[in-house]
Amino acid sequence: MSAPPFLGRAPGKLILFGEHAVVYGHPALAMAVDRGTTVRLTPGEGPRRVRAAAMEDPRLPVALDALLPAQGLDVQIDTELPVGRGMGSSGSLAVALVRAWAAWQGRTASLQECIERGFRLERLFHGNPSGLDHTVSARGCALRYRRGSAGLQLEEIRLGPLPLVVLDTGKAGDTAELVAGVAARRPQVDPLLERIGALVLEVGPALEAGDLPVLGEAMRENQRLLAEIGVSSPEIESLVAFARTHGALGAKLAGAGGGGVVIALHPRPDELVAAAAEAGIEAFAVGPAR
Ligand code: MEV
Repeated sequence: MSAPPFLGRAPGKLILFGEHAVVYGHPALAMAVDRGTTVRLTPGEGPRRVRAAAMEDPRLPVALDALLPAQGLDVQIDTELPVGRGMGSSGSLAVALVRAWAAWQGRTASLQECIERGFRLERLFHGNPSGLDHTVSARGCALRYRRGSAGLQLEEIRLGPLPLVVLDTGKAGDTAELVAGVAARRPQVDPLLERIGALVLEVGPALEAGDLPVLGEAMRENQRLLAEIGVSSPEIESLVAFARTHGALGAKLAGAGGGGVVIALHPRPDELVAAAAEAGIEAFAVGPAR
């Protein structure tokens, strides 16, 4: 039986390769990261008090009402993820909440429960989520995935060493608008989307082996293709160039683009984080969740 505070924690995610192409049935690769969201539930007096700092959101009370009593249980939410940057902060909150709720009931939430209940909560945050974010959060691993008629098809993949740095553009991209923009540029961009899908399959062995030069080259190609399909931005291009100038083997946007975060593969991630700090760029090293 766990004792208060009742804790739930879940990681965020990064799309390593394949964003946008995945909307058209091609595979993509995502990884749970070693940063996430923690929910603490503490018995209290009277109406629920919520401390959510960076995750304060008008939709949060609705999500909390879906699981928790309105009285006698206080909620504290802390996240190490940049919010609204494509790192799955709301998916990780949804799964952390399910885990904390189960801990409060004196049990451990099953994977299926995290996925099913987590999805219901995710829907309260995003009207029509793809289901990827909370799935990666709940599983806590790296996945190759495809969108099928029956939902996501998932394949767990093993990762070798993957020293990554996240650089934040400081801007949120508008996913729906970016996805619609790509749709409007079809069929001209179809060969580019196809090449992104092929790249996802090609990088599998290099990811498993931790072959950094091959992965760096694949990231550079994926970024070129994303720029060609029209989802990069001046901020993204400037961070990609910054990372490359400071020794990154490859760098690309991660998520929908238009802003959000850039991931850079660097054999000495701390060097890039230090250079970014000096240049006033928000950056941090990340690795796989496990
Ligand atoms: C957004 O995080 C990833 C996209 O591929 C959209 C999606 O898969 O739903 C751009």
